[in-house]
Amino acid sequence: MVETFLGRFHFHFDNRRLDFKRWISALISSHKTLFTVLWIVAFASIFVWQRSIVDGLRIFGRAHPARPIPRLRPVAFNLTDFGGVGDGVTVNTEAFERAVTAISKLGSRGGGQLNVQPGRWLTGPFNLTSHMTLFLAEDAVILGIQDEKLWPLMPPLPSYGYGREHPGPRYGSLIHGQNLKDVVITGHNGTIDGQGQAWWVKYRQKLLNHTRGPLVQIMFSRDIQISNITLRNSPFWTFHPYDCKNVIIKNVTILAPIFEAPNTDGIDPGEYALFMFFLTVYQFLLFNK
Ligand SMILES: *[C@@H]1O[C@H](CO)[C@@H](O)[C@H](O)[C@H]1NC(C)=O
Ligand SMILES: *[C@@H]1O[C@H](CO)[C@@H](O)[C@H](O)[C@H]1NC(C)=O
Ligand SMILES: *[C@@H]1O[C@H](CO)[C@@H](O)[C@H](O)[C@H]1NC(C)=O
Ligand SMILES: *[C@@H]1O[C@H](CO)[C@@H](O)[C@H](O)[C@H]1NC(C)=O
Ligand SMILES: *[C@@H]1O[C@H](CO)[C@@H](O)[C@H](O)[C@H]1NC(C)=O
Ligand SMILES: *[C@@H]1O[C@H](CO)[C@@H](O)[C@H](O)[C@H]1NC(C)=O
Repeated sequence: MVETFLGRFHFHFDNRRLDFKRWISALISSHKTLFTVLWIVAFASIFVWQRSIVDGLRIFGRAHPARPIPRLRPVAFNLTDFGGVGDGVTVNTEAFERAVTAISKLGSRGGGQLNVQPGRWLTGPFNLTSHMTLFLAEDAVILGIQDEKLWPLMPPLPSYGYGREHPGPRYGSLIHGQNLKDVVITGHNGTIDGQGQAWWVKYRQKLLNHTRGPLVQIMFSRDIQISNITLRNSPFWTFHPYDCKNVIIKNVTILAPIFEAPNTDGIDPGEYALFMFFLTVYQFLLFNK
């Protein structure tokens, strides 16, 4: 009897427990579903909110008029006037070359200014000319092309007589100048980015057959001014004035990762006669992402 009673009781209890369990698990699973839905909604709304903050900032940024580019030479051009496209993909080497050719004809009239507007302007190496101002707007980035086949070779530096890393010719610099006078590279803290990462990896893996090129190299020239810009991730030395007179460097930021960026020296003056540094902002070898 007792056993039966207990058995029945157990039976009933088990039944109830089963019901209760089912009810609980249904509740839990519906809660789970609800919770999952709520979680997705919350996550999505945070995501949308974040996006709108970013967009808001972008819109906010755009709402501010772009800082007007000052006129520093009698004649000024935009890189777009020469077919430049700042989409980070189009190669602008020829646009830069056309601009430099146009400015080279203005020397007797005080020279010319080339404005690089906000955007990402991919380019292979190009040469500057005398009486030229290269002006990089805020958020203008000149990007060095990473394919070394598009980097012309040059004779080794006279002081070495051979390539610094390999015998024979060396890669030229991304922005180069020789036998020039009165050259200014300035801006509203725009950037010349050598995209050196690919070069550093190839250098370490011994895949390069020639010495890497500097980011900006000016040789046998005078009256050179580099100011108010950022130079970053050079394949090799960052700024290399060689056998130049009256070089002024002012308010320039130089960035490269501390590790894994071999020989990306900031400024390597070589064989100079008269040289002046005015580095009010000089961050050399900083981490960057
Ligand atoms: C360069 O472009 C700006 C607009 O971004 C325009 O206001 C200016 O007139 C242009 N300058 C030249 C020289 O074409
Ligand atoms: C720049 O000029 C130098 C000297 O004339 C020349 O060796 C070099 O190939 C030129 N670089 C480019 C990219 O045209
Ligand atoms: C340095 O450059 C920044 C960014 O373009 C500018 O705001 C600042 O006025 C410059 N400082 C000097 C001393 O020229
Ligand atoms: C210029 O830009 C660089 C990199 O974007 C930044 O690190 C530096 O602080 C800026 N300089 C000034 C003076 O705003
Ligand atoms: C280096 O030279 C080797 C052998 O001539 C060639 O196969 C290779 O493509 C060259 N590498 C570069 C980056 O030019
Ligand atoms: C640097 O930028 C500041 C602020 O725009 C300007 O006052 C100064 O004249 C510039 N200096 C040089 C050397 O370009």
